[in-house]
Amino acid sequence: MKDFEVKKNKRELVISKIKEGTVIDHISAGKALLVLKILGIDERTRETISLAMNVPSKKMGKKDIVKVENKFINEEELNKIALIAPNATINLIKDYEIVKKFKVKLPEVVEGIILCPNKTCISNAKREPIKSRFYISVKDGEVAAKCHYCGKVLKNIAEHLL
Ligand code: CTP
Ligand code: ZN
Repeated sequence: MKDFEVKKNKRELVISKIKEGTVIDHISAGKALLVLKILGIDERTRETISLAMNVPSKKMGKKDIVKVENKFINEEELNKIALIAPNATINLIKDYEIVKKFKVKLPEVVEGIILCPNKTCISNAKREPIKSRFYISVKDGEVAAKCHYCGKVLKNIAEHLL
């Protein structure tokens, strides 16, 4: 197995294949930075990370890609990624081979991952905070979340992720 993609010509963009880890492909164009944030990747990260934004895609027109070496994402990260990039494909890589490929699935209900922006919502009570609970739906092609406790509907979910 080669550890890099063949450069077909000098105009082609090359992102190395990874040996071990996760490739998140078909991310909605422009959302790769949010995916990095969800995965907790920042300036302290030591693993190799590759990122491509706004690359041409047959299926999506444009897409983003994130490749993270030596990391296998967990359920909470998956749910968060689904909320901001509902078409994303997850590829788990072991010894250069894709051992698992699946599309993220929008959860119907999420608990404890979105902060309700309504200050008076019971889920924000200082004394006895309650785990937030939101119902997820798609409205006009956009992912929306509705608070179980106060009914507040959010569309800009990325800004309210815990
Ligand atoms: N990939 C990688 N390292 C590997 C194997 C695959 O980085 N060792 C990446 C590829 O570069 C690609 C993604 O994982 O971005 C999916 O690979 P593959 O299924 O071979 O590509 P496609 O057929 O284009 O995927 P899809 O059908 O999901 O569009
Ligand atoms: Zn609320």
